[in-house]
Amino acid sequence: MARTSGARTQRHFLMCPPTHFAVEYAINPWMDPSVAVDRDRALDQWSRLRDLYRALGHRVSEIAPIEGLPDMVFAANGGLVVDGRVYGARFASAERTPEGPAYLDWFRKAGYTETREPKHVNEGEGDFVVLDTLALAATGFRTEAAAHQEAERFLGRPVVTLQLVDPRFYHLDTALFALPGNTVAYYPQAFSAGSLRVLEALFPDALLATEHDAATLGLNSVCTGTDVVMAAEAADLAERLRRRGHTVHTVHMDELRKAGGGAKCCTLELRPTPD
Ligand code: ARG
Repeated sequence: MARTSGARTQRHFLMCPPTHFAVEYAINPWMDPSVAVDRDRALDQWSRLRDLYRALGHRVSEIAPIEGLPDMVFAANGGLVVDGRVYGARFASAERTPEGPAYLDWFRKAGYTETREPKHVNEGEGDFVVLDTLALAATGFRTEAAAHQEAERFLGRPVVTLQLVDPRFYHLDTALFALPGNTVAYYPQAFSAGSLRVLEALFPDALLATEHDAATLGLNSVCTGTDVVMAAEAADLAERLRRRGHTVHTVHMDELRKAGGGAKCCTLELRPTPD
């Protein structure tokens, strides 16, 4: 079970070292295979993120990286874990397809007994954001809306469908993150007009991010109560979070951003761990 100490809740995260990280194909507008990638630098940025989580009191488990799967570092896409149940991922692209079974295998070996091989395309926590009483899920670029219903039935938690419209923000976790008190931070222009009305109705106290905040993947953040772990470049968002009483911990993820991922993409939350 998650433990609370002061304003902090201990979380358990799954991460995958970027041992085989590369940009060899382009499945989102951030990826340009002609741009050089410095793998050592990616590993350094990733290690600092992992060490920061541990320094903040969280648990981090690691899945072994697989050669030939350069995007496997983005563990958020490996599944969705709620109340110890694991809804597996089914990737939209052929390049990432083998990651789905690889992550499910890790969960089974780690002792999770309720696992589901999905029928519908979904890229795990990349397109699902879990709040206290419901989950938000995106469609538009990767995850199919039918997967939202599949997840809702399997996890027993209501899922609200949102439509993403800007290809730079192709996963929900690039455009929105959860804040305490059942609210969120998001970039309005990433969503369709209808979805924006849903967000406005559900979250009157939401924090709205600027284009710069979003374009530096500032919304690809992890909030664990008071603490927020986020991209160093998203200064406006950081300032507004501080004014709301948050402690902001900045990380540099620009090497991994060449593949379109930031801090949250590298992080899959295990809610909670099996005993
Ligand atoms: N290159 C990866 C892809 O396009 C990046 C995934 C980022 N992950 C995330 N949760 N947003 O699939």
